[in-house]
Amino acid sequence: MKRFFIYLTAFSPIVYLLIRLFIFDDVNDPIKYIYTITGVSATVILFFSITISLIKEKINLMKYRKEIGLLGFFYAFLHLTNFVVFDASFDIEFILKETVEKPFIYLGMIAFFILLFMGITSSKQLFRKYNKYHKFVYLALILITIHWTMAQKSLTIIQYIYMIFIIMVIYYKLKQQELRYNIFTNLLTK
Ligand code: HEM
Repeated sequence: MKRFFIYLTAFSPIVYLLIRLFIFDDVNDPIKYIYTITGVSATVILFFSITISLIKEKINLMKYRKEIGLLGFFYAFLHLTNFVVFDASFDIEFILKETVEKPFIYLGMIAFFILLFMGITSSKQLFRKYNKYHKFVYLALILITIHWTMAQKSLTIIQYIYMIFIIMVIYYKLKQQELRYNIFTNLLTK
């Protein structure tokens, strides 16, 4: 049942996007709109995936953490596809020029490749070998936050609330890791 709700929630933005684009056909700037829906969905889902261990006493979603992370990556992939297919029309020269010249694009690209690496190494076998590098998700999330902040002309109240939320999550994650480290060193010194 939990899995059903996770997938229902995670796929609702793409269903909403397709309905707006193909049924209502009322979007003025479809490329920008696809950037918004896919970018915001990827960001929210990825952030949610790192808060799972913080809320596990209240709702235990630990067993779905990997799937939730991959759903976030799915939206990041659609976001990049929008850039390559619709915005750049597969023009490699344009893609390279935009990536090199616009800092917010190359920060997004770096974040995307970190997520890609995590997606590829999320299988049981590879995770055992590469899990220490999965901490790079924090770097990816910081880059993503800078990326979308730079992409905006001005920030809305929701975006400021989101930033406060990010700072709180990172603070609690660091505290949680410090606690785990203390328990571990106490055990070793006993
Ligand atoms: C793969 C390389 C990436 C490229 C080329 C890219 C491109 C863009 C562009 C061009 C915009 C501005 C859209 C506009 O307002 O006109 C944008 C916005 C945004 N991007 Fe990315 N992006 C990339 C990676 C990412 C990643 C990995 C994430 C999150 C996981 C992300 C999340 C966002 C968000 C949240 C926005 C703001 C959307 C809005 O409020 O309208 N981007 N991106």
